[in-house]
Amino acid sequence: MNHAAVIAALQPPAGGFRTLLALPLPALNLEIGMGRGSFICRTAQNEPEQLFLGLERRVQLVAEAIERNTPLPHNVRFIAADARHLEELFAPQEINRIYLNFSDPWPKARHAKRRLTSPQFLACYRRLLAEGGELEMRTDNRQLYDYSLATLEADGWQLIIQNENLPPQEAATEYELRFRKQGLPIYYLRAKCPLEE
Ligand SMILES: C[S@@+](CC[C@H](N)C(=O)[O-])C[C@H]1O[C@@H](n2cnc3c(N)ncnc32)[C@H](O)[C@@H]1O
Repeated sequence: MNHAAVIAALQPPAGGFRTLLALPLPALNLEIGMGRGSFICRTAQNEPEQLFLGLERRVQLVAEAIERNTPLPHNVRFIAADARHLEELFAPQEINRIYLNFSDPWPKARHAKRRLTSPQFLACYRRLLAEGGELEMRTDNRQLYDYSLATLEADGWQLIIQNENLPPQEAATEYELRFRKQGLPIYYLRAKCPLEE
């Protein structure tokens, strides 16, 4: 996809993603599965001195994110790629915060590896997060929430916040608005990455 705000899949910028902004060492925040991008764009507007990257495997949604959120905040870029390729895109410890918003729950046990909080993905995030880096997750799905609490604990993450009925925040995702309209609770957690040995 050819647009100034889109990083061509699997071609990280030379020198890392921080070179995208002419700011000294901005924090780098990544939303995995950003959908149509409402959350990442609003959050980027609120924090103009940090870099926000939205990763989404469906190219069509990246195109829609651009259309919906134009004019884009200066500090947002999109990546059309699957999270399976994260380690080809990012250098170790390059990321400060990872957001997982309403990720696909993959309820069948044989698909558990695809959940974005599986032990395999957590090990990958641990390598890519900087010291003190954090993971934030929102979901309507109780099973995925409980599963994530368990995998995070087993992997040594420090749980900072857990909330089983998150009140509305300034930045919302498209799915979140839909679930809130239906009166469903939003489960939320924030966890700090363990130190790599
Ligand atoms: C249920 S939607 C939620 C979208 C958005 N975060 C929201 O809350 O409105 C899940 C999104 O994650 C994307 N997704 C799922 N697995 C992914 C992966 N492995 N890599 C990148 N994107 C992924 C899907 O394409 C979809 O757009």
